[in-house]
This record gives sequence, structure tokens and C-alpha cells, in this order.
Amino acid sequence: MTHPLAIAPSILSADFTHLADAVALVEDAGAEFIHVDVMDGHYVPNLTIGPPVVKALKRIARVPLDVHLMVSDPDRTVEWYLNAGADIVTVHVEASKHLHRTVETIRGRGARAGVTLNPATPVSSLRAIMPFVDLVLVMSVNPGFGGQSFIPASPQKVAAVAALAAELGVAPRIEVDGGIDVRTAPLVVAAGADMLVAGNAIFCQPDPAKALHELRNAASTRLV
Ligand code: DX5
Ligand code: ZN
Repeated sequence: MTHPLAIAPSILSADFTHLADAVALVEDAGAEFIHVDVMDGHYVPNLTIGPPVVKALKRIARVPLDVHLMVSDPDRTVEWYLNAGADIVTVHVEASKHLHRTVETIRGRGARAGVTLNPATPVSSLRAIMPFVDLVLVMSVNPGFGGQSFIPASPQKVAAVAALAAELGVAPRIEVDGGIDVRTAPLVVAAGADMLVAGNAIFCQPDPAKALHELRNAASTRLV
């Protein structure tokens, strides 16, 4: 693993009436990032949050905001999230018409750029863009909702992303998002992931701080 393991709790599963408390709770429990799921009701069949909430989160967050844009044509709106203070902006390769331009826009503003693949999108679609990105996000569910089941083929996809990065001589962070819990985390880490998004497995547990610690322990356990 090139990068230290990082956990990015997804606040999509938090109580939206107490977002600041949710952020503070996972930060105190050691979360390295806060994962923010932006959905536009068009690219995915759900509508979540937009720039004003990202801006508000930026005021209170002590760790970087990892903003996952599930939006159509992100070239049109990516600046909104950069202006709102996103530290990492990740766009879907399927949604961007000019992916290289999108990535350059993000990096040109001093943020880190990520690209993400839906479960049905081949890893080969990353080949041309990978040298220009800081992070690759492998979706292990179809985007749109928290609490879905992990797609079992995802670790193979993570391994293919890691192999492509090695072939190209680059080392982006490899993040996995969807259905990550104590059972699936070790599988994706063994395949090469170093950043784990978790919504339900943290915020829908009776003790989210304990759940985060358990997730980290599970992810750090070497598979035999
Ligand atoms: C799904 C989102 C995820 C989601 C993860 O479209 O991108 O970040 O919130 O939630 P869990 O961990 O519950 O699958
Ligand atoms: Zn996400």
C-alpha cells in the first residue's frame, strides 16, 4: 500500500439535522476525511446536497472534505464545489464530456482530483486519465443510495486498478465506496485499496465511533 489507510465516513447516512455533531464525532474517532455525496437527481435517481451545505461543512470540518460528485456534466458545476471549499473533488468518468479538462480545472484550483467508475464501467477507461489524477474511486455499488449491498466482483476491480497504476508508474489513492463494512473492508484492502468510504457501517450503528474503530481494525487485518 503506497498511502496510509484512510477512512472517509459518508455523511449521507448521518442525521442531517445534526450534521456538525456527526462530523465532530467521526473526526474525534480518527476519520481522515469526510465523504460528501452530491447527487443531482439526474445522473443518479436521488437528490442530496449542494454547494451551500458543502460550504457549511467546510466551516466546521477539521479534516479534508472528499466531495463525490454524482452529477451529469460536472464541467458545468465543478467550480461551485471548488468555491465551496472541497479538498478532493471526484467526478464520474461516465458523466464528464471533457474529463481531462475537468481534472485540470480541479487541480488548477489547488484541490485534489479524483475519477470514479461505476460497477459496469471497465478499468481500461482510466488508462488515459490516470497519470493526471490524485485518486481513483471504485464504486462497489451502483451510485445513488447509502445502505446497498457490496458487489462481490469489486475487489477484482480494485486489483485491476492497482495493476494499471503500477503499469503506468503512478500511485493515485485507491478509494472504494459502497457496502463497506467489517466483512468487505479487508477484501478491498487486500486488493489494493487505501481509502474506504463507509456510511451505514458507521452512522447507522449504535456507537458510530466504536464502529469506525472496528472498521479500521478489520481493514488492517491481514487476510490469510
Ligand atoms: C452511494 C454513495 C456512497 C454511500 C455509501 O451512491 O456514493 O458514498 O453513501 O454508503 P454505504 O457505506 O452505506 O454503502
Ligand atoms: Zn460516495
